[in-house]
Amino acid sequence: MLVKVVVLTGAGISAESGLATFRDADGLWQGHSIDDVATPEAFVREPATVHRFYDARRRELRSATPNPAHLALARLEQVLGDDLLVVTQNVDDLHERAGSRRVVHMHGELLSALCEGCQGRFVWDDDLAGAPACPGCGNTMLRPDVVWFGEMPYDMDLIERALLEADLFVAIGTSGAVYPAAGFVRMAALAGAKTLELNLDSSETSHLFDDSRQGPAGTIVPEWVADVQRLPR
Ligand code: APR
Repeated sequence: MLVKVVVLTGAGISAESGLATFRDADGLWQGHSIDDVATPEAFVREPATVHRFYDARRRELRSATPNPAHLALARLEQVLGDDLLVVTQNVDDLHERAGSRRVVHMHGELLSALCEGCQGRFVWDDDLAGAPACPGCGNTMLRPDVVWFGEMPYDMDLIERALLEADLFVAIGTSGAVYPAAGFVRMAALAGAKTLELNLDSSETSHLFDDSRQGPAGTIVPEWVADVQRLPR
């Protein structure tokens, strides 16, 4: 009898939608240095380089569509309602476009712009391309509303409360290379949750999970959701 489920997703769930992961052979960190495009210091030093990196990812996202894994999680939310929370490390909007409503973006969102001057947030649509000024206060250059290395992830209190209450914790498409997300499986297990990893291959945290299924998310996530839907509620 499943009550509360927390699902953590990483770049691997969006790979079959055509979005690059970070650490696979053709990943983003093969072609870019984190220090040049994903730190607050990089944005101070070379804002144009950082904007170019995120503008390219936004263009890629506009031509991507949710894949069967995103759609399966949206179906699962139809069944579990408030008892399912998706915590994503991804900054794409594919969970939302698939129909998921209860999604926490702990690393921010590619389609959101943040003004460090007035803390205003704005939809990053096409007329914000390049290095735009803040439409709110005007005087500060907008930055991508994503969490860079060395910055605090968003919504950690909410996430930790959900992990402590979870009956089941499922990680999908993440290498387990980056904390605090990589530590969520241990937190959930210590609080008594069962843990399941759904991934293309083993990850840095595979050994911490009770169970795992390997394969492309577009195949194994719908299979897992179908199994859950057969469980007595
Ligand atoms: N189906 C399932 N899993 C897949 C697929 C797929 N089609 N393709 C790749 N994977 C798996 C890889 O095997 C790997 O374990 O997805 C994982 C992707 O790992 P990363 O590229 O490290 O992405 P992620 O775990 O999301 O990175 C975490 O690191 O750089 C930061 O902020 C960035 O949010 C990101 C964080």
